[in-house]
Amino acid sequence: MHAFTVKILDLWKTYDGQRQILNGVSLTVEPEETILIRGRSGSGKTTLLSIIGCIDTPTKGSILLNGYDASKLSQKELAKIRLKRIGIVFQSHNLIHDLTVFDNVLLPLKFAKSKDGVDRVNKLLETFEILDLAHNKPAEISGGERQRVAIARALANNPSILLADEPTSALDMDNCNIVTQAFLKANREFGTTVIIASHDLDLDNHVHTKYVLRDGQIFEGD
Ligand SMILES: Nc1ncnc2c1ncn2[C@@H]1O[C@H](COP(=O)(O)OP(=O)(O)O)[C@@H](O)[C@H]1O
Ligand SMILES: [Mg+2]
Repeated sequence: MHAFTVKILDLWKTYDGQRQILNGVSLTVEPEETILIRGRSGSGKTTLLSIIGCIDTPTKGSILLNGYDASKLSQKELAKIRLKRIGIVFQSHNLIHDLTVFDNVLLPLKFAKSKDGVDRVNKLLETFEILDLAHNKPAEISGGERQRVAIARALANNPSILLADEPTSALDMDNCNIVTQAFLKANREFGTTVIIASHDLDLDNHVHTKYVLRDGQIFEGD
């Protein structure tokens, strides 16, 4: 199981030296928690997720990953955290078109030089009920299936946190429910902390905590 806490302390993000997007966001995500961050388009959800995922840096404030200040880690240490500790799912699946479902999910395991790659991929495809699509290419499967492949790929190296940015907004309602269930299953089966950002999704009783980003600040609740 994972014991990985994400702590955000008084985070600020300003673009072009003047456009303030985040104005003092503080948030603690406990290990194995599932949270939903809502907020209108432009409220800073992607910015916040990118900072948590160590692909962007704050203007001010800190982000502690398991107690380590991300700003004090070397590029090498950050790359390792991104590969092993953090999985990301985007709005559009970002799968590699020329690779099969199986090989897409295997790829992060190859990067990490993992030895149990094939078993892990089979287990993930089974968990998300896409094992029968293993040899298909992304173009040959549905949008909901592609997002489940993206979830499986994000979980390949058994990360401690799974970040999802508008993961269902390109899907119809049925697929939206299926993909939402897949995130909850990732949390249940693998103990992964799940952080979902969405402008429209309402997971009501399914997540541990709901937050909303408004005017550059974060509030608990709707
Ligand atoms: N690289 C960037 N440079 C300048 N402005 C940006 C950049 N990225 C995002 N923004 C602006 O920051 C605001 C918040 O964007 P974003 O975090 O994508 O919001 P959300 O994901 O909630 O829609 C938007 O007004 C957007 O135009
Ligand atoms: Mg966004």
